[in-house]
Amino acid sequence: MEILWKGFTNRERQVQDLADRICALLGEGVEKQGRASLAVSGGSTPVPLFAELSGRELPWEKVVVTLVDERWVEPADPDSNEHLVRTHLLRNRAAAARLVGMKTEAEDAFAGETACEERLRQVPRPFDVLVLGMGTDGHTASLFPGAGRLEAATAMDSGRLCMAIVPPRAPHVRMTLTLPAILDSRQIFLHITGEEKRRVYARARAGGPAGEMPIRYVLRQEQTPVEVYWAP
Ligand code: 6PG
Repeated sequence: MEILWKGFTNRERQVQDLADRICALLGEGVEKQGRASLAVSGGSTPVPLFAELSGRELPWEKVVVTLVDERWVEPADPDSNEHLVRTHLLRNRAAAARLVGMKTEAEDAFAGETACEERLRQVPRPFDVLVLGMGTDGHTASLFPGAGRLEAATAMDSGRLCMAIVPPRAPHVRMTLTLPAILDSRQIFLHITGEEKRRVYARARAGGPAGEMPIRYVLRQEQTPVEVYWAP
């Protein structure tokens, strides 16, 4: 599958253009299916995108927002992606959207897998839009290099939407969408900023085992179109 690289001169333009694309796809989804779904990442990169999207005009009440991964912390915790999305995306106009979070009452992410899976089954799929970030170690969602369950979480025949995963170095046990769930999207955007991530991306595109840089699983598949949005 061809990967479209979209480089911008600054982050404002990048965010504007990405928000335009996302809104057009969500609008199309609502028109065709009566509802649409948007799966987003956490981290710091998407915050300006969330702010921009929150003010856009869209039938948000017909949009279901969900997460590509979550840290197993309380939703009020500042490290929670649900908290991030509620704070920056589900406000202004986008307050009308419905959020399906991953964190359940379960004591740990492993015990929470079944309930999380049930929740995710309420989200229309294929996701109309799925936005990924990337770490400088080449992880995406919570598919971390060296994680014990990386192989299981990237197996295309698992039939699973989410799995608990322990990042070898980053804090908090996570729940992540599996690779087959990530790829069950009409459009994937990889949203990255800065020179370091440009270099990491170039390394990911070059040869090497996918497990060493799990973003490669997304960049090397033939199922779902990927557009890379980069700004310095
Ligand atoms: C998360 C993620 C993760 C993130 C990258 C990049 O919740 O942490 O979904 O995969 O996208 O770690 O994070 P930054 O945008 O903060 O660099």
